[in-house]
Amino acid sequence: MCYAIPGKVETVLGNIVTLDYFGEKKQAYNELDYLRPDDFVYAQGGFVIRVISPEEARSILSVFKETFYELQEIDLRLTRVGLKDNGADKDILRILDKALEEKKLSRANLLKLLTLKAPRERELLYKVANFLRRKYLSNSCCVHGIIEFSSYCWRNCAYCGISTHNQNLKRYRMSETEILENVTLAVEKHGFQALVLQSGEDTGFSPKQLAELIREIKKRHQLLIFVSCGEVGPEGLETLYEAGARGILLRFETANPLLYRSLHPGSYLNSRIEHLKRAYETGYLVITGSLVGLPGQTPEDILDDIFLARDLHTEMYSFGPFIPHPETPLSTFPQADSITILNTLAVLRIVDPRNAKILVTSSFETIDPQAKEKGLMAGANSVMLNVTPGEYQKSYSIYPNRANEDIALEEQIRRTLDLLYRIGRAPTDLGVKG
Ligand code: 5AD
Repeated sequence: MCYAIPGKVETVLGNIVTLDYFGEKKQAYNELDYLRPDDFVYAQGGFVIRVISPEEARSILSVFKETFYELQEIDLRLTRVGLKDNGADKDILRILDKALEEKKLSRANLLKLLTLKAPRERELLYKVANFLRRKYLSNSCCVHGIIEFSSYCWRNCAYCGISTHNQNLKRYRMSETEILENVTLAVEKHGFQALVLQSGEDTGFSPKQLAELIREIKKRHQLLIFVSCGEVGPEGLETLYEAGARGILLRFETANPLLYRSLHPGSYLNSRIEHLKRAYETGYLVITGSLVGLPGQTPEDILDDIFLARDLHTEMYSFGPFIPHPETPLSTFPQADSITILNTLAVLRIVDPRNAKILVTSSFETIDPQAKEKGLMAGANSVMLNVTPGEYQKSYSIYPNRANEDIALEEQIRRTLDLLYRIGRAPTDLGVKG
């Protein structure tokens, strides 16, 4: 199974290559010194990942060509927006009109959109977001994989089920061999081209060890690696980048410093932000975002989260609902509601229409079984599938009853592709860095 369309190299200018995808030109960053015009490559997150043989490329392209245009047609059909006559509030219609024309919206207006409740108005909000998604990023949808390799964590985050609060959790740390085996399965059997390596902040797995592992992975496979192991420090960032990691997934959780402090006693929002800035400066693609629906969080806070994520040069926005975990101090608080999450995804798209990859998170799927489709029709254009072996997934209990835990990966892939094809999306990543 293939999650990306091969591109044909047109020009190589230093580290920047121009790729052709059925006539569409995209630029990507290249680190392979043997790349030449006319080579066929896979690119992920704007990085050239690997060269594939012309025979293989042509056979994939010939199968995909028709599908490619069919999917674009479906997407176009599903993306039409008519802003008139559905009985929605005039003021909201005016704001959405402005959004469609990409005029700058005031905070007050963005807040109105973020807090929309009425179904008719929300329907229009999602349509506008979906329209902007198609206009600038066409129908491509990233499908990344994630391996949760250790559930040990020394942090005391008040919401998190693998934090030190959870004394009843049977923790695990996958061995390097197990991790390598699972990466191989994900890449060779399932065709993933981008993987996130995630763990708690595990003192038993130093950045040096992780770097060794990444080197080993890169020796065996050509893929885009994101690390998601918390704050590894400036040196850790360098070490992991040198080893071949090119992305980092680290949420700042909330842009409200007081709320951050109350949820993470002893830690500061500033240090998290500094880490994310440093990661970007080091050259990482940054995936970040926040927890939506945290106790004490206001709509203004969520809007600040959106702006902070944008200002951090986010490559992919990861905004998901808070879900209370019984073994944490926040066990009795209500979970976020699905509408707030969808509104957040749509407002994200309106705030960053041209570049944003916006993820539909598994946490959203956990509170709403229709989340993938709803999110993708409301501005989102990325999904992540969990490729952690089943026996471990259950113990990686950041929140309870995670979606898809009992569904085999093959089946999850099948369902995801069915959905993407049904709504006219191409499971590919033609992003441009920078
Ligand atoms: N509900 C939803 N998401 C959670 N996370 C941690 N605990 C919870 C929870 N109770 C998210 C955090 C973290 C990511 C790995 O998991 O946002 O960054």
